[in-house]
Amino acid sequence: MGTIESTFGIAVLAGVILPALYANAASPRLHILFDDGWRFLRGDAPEAWKPDFDDAGWREVDLPHDWAVEDLPPLTDETLPSLPIAEGVWRFSPGDDPAWKDPDFDDAAWQEVRLPASWEAHSNYTADNVYGWYRRRIEMPAELRGRDLVLLVGKVDDVDETFVNGVKVGGLGQFPPNYQTAWDQPRRYVVPAGLLRGDGTDLVAVRVFDGVGSGGLYAAVGPHQRSGPFDSEAEGGGAVGFTLGGVGWYRKVFSLPQELHDRRVMLTFDGVYMNCEVWLNGRRLGEHPYGYTSFHFDVTDHLVFGERPNVLAVRVDASGKTSRWYPGAGIYRHVWLTATHPIHVAPWGVYVTTPEVGHNKALVRVQTTLCNKLPAGRQVTVRSQVLNPDGKEVAATETPVDMAAGQTQELVQELLVRHPRLWSTETPTIYRLVTTVSAGGEVVDKLETPFGIRSISFDASHGFRLNGVPVKLRGGCVHHDNGCLGACAFDRAEERRVELLKAAGFNAVRTAHNPPSPAFLDACDRLGMLVIDEAFDCWRHGKNPHDYGRFFDAWWRRDIEAMVLRDRNHPCVILWSIGNEVIEQGTPEGADLAAMLASYVRQLDPTRPVTQAAHPGTDPWENMDANFAQVDVAGYNYKDDRYATDHERIPDRVIIGTESFPGHCFEQLMATLDMPWVAGDFVWTALDYLGESAIGHTYYDGETPQFQTWPWTTANCGDLDLCGFRRPPSYYREVCWHIRPMVACFVQTPPPPGKTTEHVYGWGWRDERPSWTWPGHEGETLTVRVYSSCPRVRLFLNGRDLGERETTRATRFTAVYEVPYEPGVLLAVGLGERNGELDRWELRTAGEPAQLRLAPDRPTIRADGQDLCFVTAEVLDAHGNLNPNANTLLRFALDGPGKIIGVGNGDPRSVESFQQPHRRAFRGRCLVVVRAANHAGQITLRAEAQGLTGATAKIRVVQVP
Ligand code: GAL
Repeated sequence: MGTIESTFGIAVLAGVILPALYANAASPRLHILFDDGWRFLRGDAPEAWKPDFDDAGWREVDLPHDWAVEDLPPLTDETLPSLPIAEGVWRFSPGDDPAWKDPDFDDAAWQEVRLPASWEAHSNYTADNVYGWYRRRIEMPAELRGRDLVLLVGKVDDVDETFVNGVKVGGLGQFPPNYQTAWDQPRRYVVPAGLLRGDGTDLVAVRVFDGVGSGGLYAAVGPHQRSGPFDSEAEGGGAVGFTLGGVGWYRKVFSLPQELHDRRVMLTFDGVYMNCEVWLNGRRLGEHPYGYTSFHFDVTDHLVFGERPNVLAVRVDASGKTSRWYPGAGIYRHVWLTATHPIHVAPWGVYVTTPEVGHNKALVRVQTTLCNKLPAGRQVTVRSQVLNPDGKEVAATETPVDMAAGQTQELVQELLVRHPRLWSTETPTIYRLVTTVSAGGEVVDKLETPFGIRSISFDASHGFRLNGVPVKLRGGCVHHDNGCLGACAFDRAEERRVELLKAAGFNAVRTAHNPPSPAFLDACDRLGMLVIDEAFDCWRHGKNPHDYGRFFDAWWRRDIEAMVLRDRNHPCVILWSIGNEVIEQGTPEGADLAAMLASYVRQLDPTRPVTQAAHPGTDPWENMDANFAQVDVAGYNYKDDRYATDHERIPDRVIIGTESFPGHCFEQLMATLDMPWVAGDFVWTALDYLGESAIGHTYYDGETPQFQTWPWTTANCGDLDLCGFRRPPSYYREVCWHIRPMVACFVQTPPPPGKTTEHVYGWGWRDERPSWTWPGHEGETLTVRVYSSCPRVRLFLNGRDLGERETTRATRFTAVYEVPYEPGVLLAVGLGERNGELDRWELRTAGEPAQLRLAPDRPTIRADGQDLCFVTAEVLDAHGNLNPNANTLLRFALDGPGKIIGVGNGDPRSVESFQQPHRRAFRGRCLVVVRAANHAGQITLRAEAQGLTGATAKIRVVQVP
C-alpha cells in the first residue's frame, strides 16, 4: 500500500474521509451512502484497477450517475458535405451481372421504381437468397461540384456493393458464401471529387443481396449527427434512444476509522448497468453482469484502516447492443457501505410476512438469518419488536440462539399485532420491525425493516383481493429511467414518479422488465402503489446480441435471489414476474424454464404469486398453456380478445393484461371491469421513456411511419410524457376506470394543408391537445372531445351553450362536438343526476408569449446532496395563461446550495442536451431539475427568454438531522 500513501498523501485524504463513518463508528451497524467523491472516466483504462493508477485527469462525479445521458463530444469527421440519393426514381433489375455497374450500360428496359422501398414493395420480387441491382443518375447541387462528398445511399437489406461511375465506393455486409447481413446499417460512402463529373450524368449502381425477409434499398438515411447525448449512428439505434453505451471506469478513495478494524464491511451496489467488475486495493472482488439487480461484496479481508487510503475501482461495460430500450450506463443507483459486528444479521437477512391478517389481529412472522463470523461460538439474543407508524411498540419477542463459530442460522419468530392498521392503496400504513441482536449484554447488531400488514390473493372468481377486498389493478408499465436524468435513480426522482402515477389514477405499476431501484419500491410502499416486480426481458435466448441472454444460464439463480430476497419485505409487491415475452415462451423449453424460475421464486418467497407476460404473437396461442401452467397468474400482453374464450377453456386461470395499447383503452378496461377473472390492466406505458423511439406517434396519408427513426428519442407512448406531464390518454384512462367524477376536454389538431386522415401508429394516441389557442384557424370547424365519467356533459363556447351530451359507456364516455373556432373560452361541464355540476374543464385562448413562470414541486428540500426539486417552467401570455404553442428557448441560472442537473421538455423528437442550462419549451412548458448541495441555504432559480419577462423561484435547502 506504500504507493497509495505516497500518491495520495494526507492532504488528499481529507476529501476521502466519510464524516458519517467517523461520527457513528461506535454504533453496532453502520450503513452509509457511498455516493460522493468518485472519479470517472468515459472510456477504457485497462490499468485503472491498480491502486496507484493516476486518475488525476478523471472527472469528479457523485452517484447516482449515468454517462449515457451526458452530452457527447462533437463529431470530428463530419466536415464533408453530404448528398442524399435514396429518395426518388431508380431503375431496378432482379439478378446479378458485373456489367451492371458500368455507367454506359443501357438500363432503359429495367423497371422504374420509387425508393426507398423494399423490392417486395416496389416489385413482385419475393424470393429469398437473391440478388438485385439499382441504378440512377445523380443531380449535383452547384455548391457540391468539385468537392469530395458523402453519398447518403440509404439502408440496404441485407448486403450491398455500391459503385459510382463504375468504381466501387463502399459496401456493407458480406455476400455469400460467407453471407453476413448489415440490414440496419446506414450506407454513407465517401466519394472523391475526382470520380464525379457533376453534370447530371454521374451514375450510381447498387448491387444488393437479400438473405431472408425483405430485400432492397429500403430506407433513406441522413447525415451523421450528434446533439446532446444523442448520436444518429448509435449502435443501439432508436431502441436505446440513439444514446451511446461503451465502457466507463469509476474510482473512489476512502479511509476508514481505526475503530472499525474488527468489523465486517460490505459494499452494496443497488444497480450498475452493466457487466461491472470491482476491485478493492488491487484485489478483484468479482463481477456482476445484469444491469438491474443489486449485489454486494464482503470486503472485510481487503480493507486498510486509519490514515491509509482504500482504493475502490469499478469497470462498467455497456458496449454493444444490450437493450430494447434506454438502459443508461454506469453506477446509476446508490452504493452503500455497511459495517457490522462479526455477529450480525445477513444481508437481506430479515424476512417479514403477515400470514394472518384480520381487523382485530395480525400474525407477523419474522425470519432472521444470522451470521457469526467469529472464530468462537456465542450465545446471542434476537429481539424483534414491531413499532406502529407512531413509533410505539405494539409487539415484541426475544429468542436466545446458540451460534457456532462461522455459522449462519435462520430463526423464525411470530408476533401478534392487535387491531392492526392494514396497508392498502388508500391507507399505506407502514410498521417497522426493529431487530436487535445482543451478545453478552452488548448490542451487536440493530436494524429496522419497514413492512406492511396486509393480505393478498388472486383467484378467478374475485381477481385480486387486498385484505379480502377485490381491487382491480389500474396499472401501467414503467421502465426505470427518469427522463432528463437518464437512468439515475435519485430517491426523490423515483418517489416523484410514483406520486405522479398515483395522481393520474394508477394504483399499480409493472416494473418493465427488470427489478426497480429500492427507492422506487420504498415510495410505492409509502404512497400505496401495488407492484409487479419483474425479473427479466429474456431468458436463455436473448433479444439483442449483447443482452442478458448471454448470462442467463450462469446467473439466473443469483439474479432471482437478488430480486426476491431484496424486495420481499415490500408490502407493495404483490406479484413476481419471471419474464416478459421471452423468446422461448411458447415452446417446451420455455415451459421448463418457467417451471424452474417459478419454483425458485416460490422457494424464496411462498407468499406471493408468480406471473409472466406472454407475447400476443405466440402462435397458436394455446402454446402458452404449458407455460402458464407453471405460474399462478397469466400475463396477457395485448390479448384481450382471448379473455372470454380462454376463461371458457380454463375457468381457473387468473389473467392480467400485463400490457395494452393506449388506443385500445376503452375495450381493454371494459373487459377488465366486466370479467372477474381479469385482475387488472397495465398500459404500455404509464410514463414515457427514452428509447424504443416513436412507437407511439401519428402521421398523415402519404407519410411514412417513423418507427425508431432519428431524431425521435422517446417512445412517446406514455400516459405521462418524459417530464411527467399528463397527456390526453391519461385523462381518458382515468375516466374509463371511473374512479371519480371528472371531465377533460381536448381539441384535435387540424391536419396540415392537403391532408385529411390521421393514422395512429402502434402505441400512439391521436394528436389532440388541451388547447383552445389555434391562431390561423378562425372560423374552421375543430373537433372537440370531452371525456367524462359524469353521466352527461355540456359544452360552452364564450358562454354560448353548445349542447348537452351523454357520456356513458354507450358513448365510450366521450362526447364529440364540432365547433367553429373563435378565440375565447371553451368550457366543458360534467353533470350529475340532477344537473348538478360535478367537474369542469376550461380551455382559454392564450395571447402571445409575454412572461415566464417557475413552479417548484416543493418549496423546501433537504441539504443531503441527493434531494431534488422539480421545477416546471411555463411560457405565459400577459394574463397568465399558458401558451400551448410556445417553443420559446428558455435559459436558466441558479444561485445557492444546489445545481441544475437536468432539463427536459417531453418533446419526443428533441435531441437537445439534458444538461445544459437551457431548453426549448414544448407546448409551452419545460422542466428543470435542481439537486441540493450538502449545505443549507436558499436556492434562487431564474428563467429567462428573449423578449419575455423572466421568472424567479426560491427553494429552501434545509439540514435534516
Ligand atoms: C411489447 C414489449 C414491450 C415493448 C412494447 C412496445 O411487446 O413487451 O417491452 O417493447 O411491446 O414496443
